[in-house]
Amino acid sequence: MGVRFNGKHLAGFIREEEFSAIYPQVEVAHALLEAKNGPGNDFLGWASLPRDYDKEEFGRIKSAAAKIMADSDVLVVIGIGGSYLGARAAIEALRGCMYNCTAKTTPQIFFVGNSISPAYLRDILACCEGKRVSVNVISKSGTTTEPALAFRIFKKYLEDTVGKEEARGRIYATTDKARGTLKQLADAEGWQTFVVPDDVGGRYSVLTAVGLLPIACAGCDIDSLMAGAAAAMADYSRLSPENDCYRYAAARNILYRKGKSVELMACYEPNFTLMNEWYKQLFGESEGKDHKGLMPASVIFSTDLHSMGQFVQDGARLMFETVVDIREPAQDLFIEKSAENFDGLNFLADQDMSVVNRKAMEGTILAHTDGGVPNILLEVDRLDEENLGRLIYFFERACAVSGYLLGVNPFDQPGVESYKKNMFALLGKPGYEAQKAELEAKLR
Ligand code: PA5
Repeated sequence: MGVRFNGKHLAGFIREEEFSAIYPQVEVAHALLEAKNGPGNDFLGWASLPRDYDKEEFGRIKSAAAKIMADSDVLVVIGIGGSYLGARAAIEALRGCMYNCTAKTTPQIFFVGNSISPAYLRDILACCEGKRVSVNVISKSGTTTEPALAFRIFKKYLEDTVGKEEARGRIYATTDKARGTLKQLADAEGWQTFVVPDDVGGRYSVLTAVGLLPIACAGCDIDSLMAGAAAAMADYSRLSPENDCYRYAAARNILYRKGKSVELMACYEPNFTLMNEWYKQLFGESEGKDHKGLMPASVIFSTDLHSMGQFVQDGARLMFETVVDIREPAQDLFIEKSAENFDGLNFLADQDMSVVNRKAMEGTILAHTDGGVPNILLEVDRLDEENLGRLIYFFERACAVSGYLLGVNPFDQPGVESYKKNMFALLGKPGYEAQKAELEAKLR
């Protein structure tokens, strides 16, 4: 049970003494988290969330999910960044990346407001046609442009198709408990609201209503998800050289100091694709600052062995690889012998396909380590709710410790404002007139 750090493929890249040498710094990072006196200490709510979450709201989330499952064919989830990735990642990890095609008794779930693409929005509107739709709009600030724009469109769509009164019971807003345009609007319109706690940043919010309502609507067991996270909280908050979460954080930092600038998260299950995206946001926004940080990248193998494989094996030696090894696949497929053996593949027959996938993984790890790419294995028994809860907490805690080891504030994101300022100026938002002229000159 749990997430296990397996460093056997780090031999030749990290010596055990190096783990001992960095351990005092891990102790400091741990102490900052526990005493809540490190940078960003206003945003440590995630650390005890699996134990301290709002039980009354949790009950309301389950009731709202039951209603949505009963009265909706489609749930449109509107949000971006931390207000989107965790929910989608969990649903795909638990229900599969083909969830919208395979779901029989639960609504299809479409995610919008995560881009400004009109083509994408029109496609989702087309998917909603003739269906019973509910909307969960998620924005901690309540002012983010992408989801606000998408919400405008879906609010009107709902009100036009079912009328304002019926729409009122089909809109669920997840936002700040008191502040922001969305909260004001929700109160004025009488929509059911859920809270993004003040002390939980967007990218750490999957185990709040932000993630839990959509995840529950996909028929996932959110009690088990939280139980898994609580078990991980007990395991990975312990100060010990054997703490797998801290060993992972330490290994990342040791490799960074040895000149590695990219962590390549790899998994052999396509259902993990969105978990990779969630990981990239978590670590990218937490560590990429002050001109420092490992760049988080990701691959799904064996798919990407046919695109990125060449570079990983033989290109610039920038990266190390972290493989999430899911020991038991969600489903298996027995490969039967073919009488004609027309493709010469009978040597693969009479066994489950997962065995072939595992051999592909083992062979690839050996090839990549031979090619100079250090390899970390994170072993997980299976992708069920409990193990996913453990994995989410494992990564969140590892990310916080990694950030402190790096000497940055892992809980702010000052860099994401720059593009917004430019976009607003170029679009002529009142108050941005001076920047507009300057930027337009640069674009000419
Ligand atoms: O992690 C973060 O803080 C960001 O990715 C936010 O989640 C994202 O920008 C969306 O913000 P909001 O929920 O305020 O709309």
